[in-house]
Amino acid sequence: MKKHYALSVLLALSSTVALADDLAKYQDESRAIVGPFVQKLIAENKKAVMEGGPESAIKVCKDIAPAMAGEVSRLNGLRLTRVSLKVRNPLLGTADAWEQKKLMEFEKRAAKGEKTDAMEVAEIVKEPNGKYFRYMKAIALQQGCVACHGKPTDINENVKARLAEDYPHDQATGYEAGQIRGAVSIKRPL
Ligand code: HEC
Repeated sequence: MKKHYALSVLLALSSTVALADDLAKYQDESRAIVGPFVQKLIAENKKAVMEGGPESAIKVCKDIAPAMAGEVSRLNGLRLTRVSLKVRNPLLGTADAWEQKKLMEFEKRAAKGEKTDAMEVAEIVKEPNGKYFRYMKAIALQQGCVACHGKPTDINENVKARLAEDYPHDQATGYEAGQIRGAVSIKRPL
């Protein structure tokens, strides 16, 4: 009886350890994907603004980012998206329940003084149709983003007009540098 108990405790422990190992492994893999993804977007944005002003940078958030997200998803057999609590494009950017909860926790962590650009969360979750690894890393707003996501005084009239035309329900303005614009989210079937 005792022996059995010890054995089952051991088994339970080792599977917990295995799970923790898996979590750490998936988290490392996600970091290796998301880090360069965010860096590339920031660089593309800078380049576009320098070459053609803020209006020409619209394509970075509108075309380049979703295309990159699609390609990274295909290459790695997972789903990578950009999500937010205040979206410009509700079709692509709306957070699911898990993402919403974690984004709200990010906001709380930021309010307590944690740096937004290093904020992340990783979890293995069970859903009715299977197990998933989930990962999110906050996207901190850069100074170069306020031309389209900042206060009304930061956004020029041409950009305002284009945004109003394309996104009548735009919620993604009013941000200051350093705030959490949203997150890059990875969902990976296990
Ligand atoms: C020139 C204007 C412009 C600039 C500059 C810009 N964005 Fe965007 N952003 C947009 C547009 C337009 C969309 C909606 C894209 C779409 O249709 O999916 C968007 C969408 C997003 C989204 C997806 C969620 C949502 O709200 O739909 C994130 C995240 C985001 N931007 C972050 C950033 C960050 C971070 C920067 C700075 C590095 C930045 N943006 C700079 C125009 C801009």
